[in-house]
Amino acid sequence: MTDPSILIVGGGAVGLGIGWELVRQGRPVTIFDRGLAGRGASWLAAGMLAADAELQFEEPELYRLSRESMRRWPDFARALEAAAGDTVDYRDEGTLLVADDPDSAAALRRRYTFQKEQGLAVEWLTGAEALEREPFLAPRLAAAVFAPDDHQVDNRRVLEACKRAFVRAGGVLREHTPVQAVVPDAAAPAVVTEAGERIEGGTVILAAGAWSRQVEGLEPDVRPPVRPVKGQMIELRVERPFALRHVVRGPQAYLAPKSDGRVLVGATSEEMGFDTRVTAGGLYTILEGAWEIVPGIYDLPVTDTWAGLRPASRDHAPILGMAAPGVVVATGHYRHGILLMPVTAQEVARLVLTGETSPWLQPFSPRRFSTHTPASPLS
Ligand code: GLY
Repeated sequence: MTDPSILIVGGGAVGLGIGWELVRQGRPVTIFDRGLAGRGASWLAAGMLAADAELQFEEPELYRLSRESMRRWPDFARALEAAAGDTVDYRDEGTLLVADDPDSAAALRRRYTFQKEQGLAVEWLTGAEALEREPFLAPRLAAAVFAPDDHQVDNRRVLEACKRAFVRAGGVLREHTPVQAVVPDAAAPAVVTEAGERIEGGTVILAAGAWSRQVEGLEPDVRPPVRPVKGQMIELRVERPFALRHVVRGPQAYLAPKSDGRVLVGATSEEMGFDTRVTAGGLYTILEGAWEIVPGIYDLPVTDTWAGLRPASRDHAPILGMAAPGVVVATGHYRHGILLMPVTAQEVARLVLTGETSPWLQPFSPRRFSTHTPASPLS
């Protein structure tokens, strides 16, 4: 009997990453995407690998997963580049977190103290020291933290490379094919497209980002509780003498310079459902926030604006694991889809290939949101 295909619903960073990992291990894979693969939230992101800068006090397990993914990124990038024959612009200059007034300096100091307690290699800088490191910062910043281990990639290059590597290795892409439902079954799980086609496979992986909750077929207690969180962004184009080197993050905005001359400025965080309109207020907020910390952007041309939809779970951690017979969920990566791409791809592929949930995935089970408490064996 031929090996049945693994069916992946969603061709973003998560779906493409898992798909590529599986095809390069010799498994047949089909990815279904409602539009063009690699052109959803991950295309509209900034590509920051910000495990340290985005560390939240209350998220130790997510932080461990993020650091592990960060550890895997350089090898993942090299393998992807070799498979696709193109660079993904991995950059390791590090990130500067900056404070522009005494209040934000106090908040930054609390974050820095916590980061040091966690053993991170972060460094406290005065405004003047930060300016020495990055001459395009505002001259009178209150303080800064240098996070040398927070790197970045060009997320668009990563997605294009992953798509190419996936197809080159024999993966099948079915674009413009929205999936309406998954059909759990231990032997022959399936997907049903909105056009009514039913396709059976060996395993189904639901990786549809912010749309994951809308796909039918899972019981309510394992249907991923994911909602869209809107992020508006602005793309600027570098003009000499402007030459920002680091990712810079301030209280209201971040700037991520890419090697092709784009500077990505982001991002709002708005609970607006599936609304992707770019608004005056959204652009104003991030542009003002960016200008306050890197005033040299003032004369740069604006080349694009957009709004993407981050897939946020109820506890803001990803949802990774078996949700029903034959159906694996990999979604809810929220602000960290690109960062978590290697660990998600490799550990979900391992789950599919071996049936074993690795310790990396255990804290992120799709069952953690269930209100149903199994009866005690003693009762
Ligand atoms: N990780 C950056 C963002 O979500 O805007």
